[in-house]
Amino acid sequence: MLNDWHVVANAREVTDGNKFATQLLEQDILIWRSHGEIHAWLDRCPHRGSRLSLGQIRNGDTVVCPYHGWHFNSDGRCIRMPAHPDHPVSERARATRLHVREKYGLVWVCPGEPAADVPEFHGVDEDYHLVITGPYDVETSGPRAVENFLDLSHFPFVHTGYLGEEPYTEMDDYEVEVSDGEIRVTNATAYQPRANVTSEAGVKVAYSYRVLRPLTVMLTKEPGAAGEKPSDLILLAIQPKEETRIRAWFVLAMNYGHGEPEEHFRDFQDTIFFQDKPVLESQRPRCLPLDPTAELHQPADKSSNVYRRWLKEMGLSYGTIVQA
Ligand code: FES
Ligand SMILES: [Fe+2]
Repeated sequence: MLNDWHVVANAREVTDGNKFATQLLEQDILIWRSHGEIHAWLDRCPHRGSRLSLGQIRNGDTVVCPYHGWHFNSDGRCIRMPAHPDHPVSERARATRLHVREKYGLVWVCPGEPAADVPEFHGVDEDYHLVITGPYDVETSGPRAVENFLDLSHFPFVHTGYLGEEPYTEMDDYEVEVSDGEIRVTNATAYQPRANVTSEAGVKVAYSYRVLRPLTVMLTKEPGAAGEKPSDLILLAIQPKEETRIRAWFVLAMNYGHGEPEEHFRDFQDTIFFQDKPVLESQRPRCLPLDPTAELHQPADKSSNVYRRWLKEMGLSYGTIVQA
């Protein structure tokens, strides 16, 4: 988790000279921007531990602590202690900087040492327009939320009239494999009365997933005809604020509806996600049990069972229960 990239903000919302406070993996994080460049720091002053995000950004490039006014430049170095203006400042007086990148309109942070690059949103090219939806705060663990995203057999019950409806409940088989360090799910199908914002009639939709990282997944929704590009590509990135308090971010990429206001896509995704949220928050335990005997399974759960095994093999204990 520490060496992965996690989404912490919508890049558009952290404007020049402004700051944004959030949490990641139990730590408070300060995101701010100076002269176009994004910065991510631990939100903690090295002097007495107060939250720097309660302070100010001065002249667009200096963070001023709210408590005793220490000034930090964009390298994180303290350049002024107002109580002792003539005193040399210790080299150790530094804010803790974290690795940060901007990609797909999102701000990604790695609190440890990045083991790889920011996950790639495969297949997105100039034919697609991107819309960020959410974020959605949910009282659950990251793995429970990922598993919900991989689950199709809940559609007729949770997303009635949108992504499914009775009596179209029977699930066809689909394929799951682990290759190149990721989980690939292919040929999963679902009958959807209203598959997306522009749909006017029910269609059978093919889903394929790539679980790129434990908390980052992309989904491809294929249209009917072979050889056509997928209509929807969806990236789900979970920000684990705490072990069982997450923030879910979606990037939607569509090759249709270019003239459609962004609002319509966001409203549709809000509708879908707010149907999932109460069910997700009701699940107990909140952490995902990795022991196969801990919960019961139906054949449609194949992808979730592979996901659980994959997490167990990598030894992920954050947001999971390893032993029943
Ligand atoms: S706690 Fe930040 S300046 Fe004292
Ligand atoms: Fe759902």
